[in-house]
Amino acid sequence: MAGGEHYDLVVRGATIIDGTRAPRFAADIAVREGMIAAIGRLDRARAHAEVDASGRVVAPGFIDAHTHDDRLLLCAPDMAPKASQGVTTVVVGNCGISLALSPPHAASIPPLDLLDAGGGWFRFPSFAAYREELAARPAALNAACLAGHTTLRAAVMDRLDRAATPAETARMRERAREALGCGAIGISTGTAYEPAAAAPAQELIEVCRPLAEYGGLYVTHMRREDEGVAASLEETFAIGRALGVPVIVSHHKCVGAASHGRSRETLALIERAMRSQCVGLDCYPYVASSTVLRADRVAQSSRVLVTWSRPHPELAGLDLEEAARRLGVSKEAAIEAIKPAGAIYFMLDEADVRRILAFGETMIGSDGLPHDARPHPRLWGTFPRVLGRYSRDLGLFPLETAVWKMTGLPAAKFGLAGRGVLRPGAHADITVFDAASVGDAADYDNPTAPATGIDTVIVNGEVVWREGRPTGARPGRLLRRNAHQPPMNADARR
Ligand code: ZN
Ligand code: CU
Repeated sequence: MAGGEHYDLVVRGATIIDGTRAPRFAADIAVREGMIAAIGRLDRARAHAEVDASGRVVAPGFIDAHTHDDRLLLCAPDMAPKASQGVTTVVVGNCGISLALSPPHAASIPPLDLLDAGGGWFRFPSFAAYREELAARPAALNAACLAGHTTLRAAVMDRLDRAATPAETARMRERAREALGCGAIGISTGTAYEPAAAAPAQELIEVCRPLAEYGGLYVTHMRREDEGVAASLEETFAIGRALGVPVIVSHHKCVGAASHGRSRETLALIERAMRSQCVGLDCYPYVASSTVLRADRVAQSSRVLVTWSRPHPELAGLDLEEAARRLGVSKEAAIEAIKPAGAIYFMLDEADVRRILAFGETMIGSDGLPHDARPHPRLWGTFPRVLGRYSRDLGLFPLETAVWKMTGLPAAKFGLAGRGVLRPGAHADITVFDAASVGDAADYDNPTAPATGIDTVIVNGEVVWREGRPTGARPGRLLRRNAHQPPMNADARR
């Protein structure tokens, strides 16, 4: 037992789930200078501040493996949609889209406009410029950043409907190298989207070459997630092998009724690839996807909701069918009339979602779109939904596994040293929640309702969220990747 030592903060009476999948145990946690200083019975310890966690679970702060929070970090630094869920670190710059490195005209290129459709936020021509702004005005949460390949294309190419020339590829590669040298943890691609669809695998490989020098990650919203999903997985694995770097398959899913059930096959492919190369994947716990409005996606969906529209903001939140009725036109004509716009697409199968969530090494990523007028509920609900609905209520996996999928596992996959676990010497990113009541409240009618059961959220030793409110503390940091951690798949296999 530790003596009467003095700490900055002590969390007392906790049931600890430490982020490693080890069984829960009872202990107190002491924090000093942003780090976990002790875990155990600390009856005699004194501290400037105490958090009573009796009857509560204390876990590492959650890592949102897949976000589009690049701009939220700057424009709403309390990060309420994420802090309210117990998230302490966000991985930004996904799906080929990053605020850093974007040219000003990105605001008129879907899907780059998901980050900003004309508010002047595309003003960071280099990764260093974005990093400096984040350092000057820190957010409540930590961030790990990817550079977007679609963003790089928009920055160096006059037309996006073709492959890059060797000169353009070289210019993208130089910018990617700058980003990795300044702390980006990898490069994301989004060949599913028009502005990058014409990029052949060879362009991706040549742009991403610096990943090998810097130990960065190749993270991808794959070319196809429907009938072509298996071929896209093979392309992703081949790119990872060509570069000699780990790959992460973003928001893995099987899109459209014709592909429902195929997660059996895709997970088998992923498992096989994992035997010979480093592969990661993330998933959000919903049967609806969300992105910019596109006719081909509407055709694959059983129902579509409008999340925002530039020319018709009053239609946000409506069913596309209802929006078409109000405009007095066909559904097809309505799609053209309300673009640029965003949508929620009901196009996934619940059995696939559960199979992918339960797969051994699937991480949790919200893919929330924070600037949509009527966002997909995953923005505010993802993590408590996994803990409440999928772990506690449906028994898909034990709570220890659920926590690991959002803490220790992503910390290992993304190489975030000293994060995602509760142990002395780790960074004090901590979430206190009530296992009995934790759950998502956001739904398609009430998309921004905060989750229930999250009590206290601590980032680098400072309380950022308590009793349903941000505290105003801004201890967030830019996290770099430690590529010299143990091999990615090895420690996850037990
Ligand atoms: Zn995506
Ligand atoms: Cu995304």
